[in-house]
Amino acid sequence: MSCPPAESDARYQILVCDGPSCGVTHESEVLVELLKERVGAAPGLRGRIYVVPYNCFGRCSEGPNLFVRRLTAGEAPLAEPRLAALERERGFYPGVDAAKCEAIVREHCGEGRAIEAWVDDY
Ligand code: FES
Repeated sequence: MSCPPAESDARYQILVCDGPSCGVTHESEVLVELLKERVGAAPGLRGRIYVVPYNCFGRCSEGPNLFVRRLTAGEAPLAEPRLAALERERGFYPGVDAAKCEAIVREHCGEGRAIEAWVDDY
């Protein structure tokens, strides 16, 4: 059995909803730009955090919403995951703003722990 990667090697996929409510009403594109900027500016995050559009988590009134999931070894980072993968992982963040975005990248992706005050079951 192989050991899981050290946190500094772990890869994450951040799915940002670009559905009709999050994308248009809540302008989730702003979050995408923020995330890409943040990841691009941090050498320790570049190449292991992937920001991917996702079309609707079904929690539209709570947007803008995103989901952070840890990628398994060899998993294609830009592929849309199966629903079961989202149900297994505690990584759904509703109502994300710029400050939450920063903290989610720093703590969930950087330290490997979901932010319990904000994360929700999906
Ligand atoms: S539009 Fe984002 S959850 Fe539906």
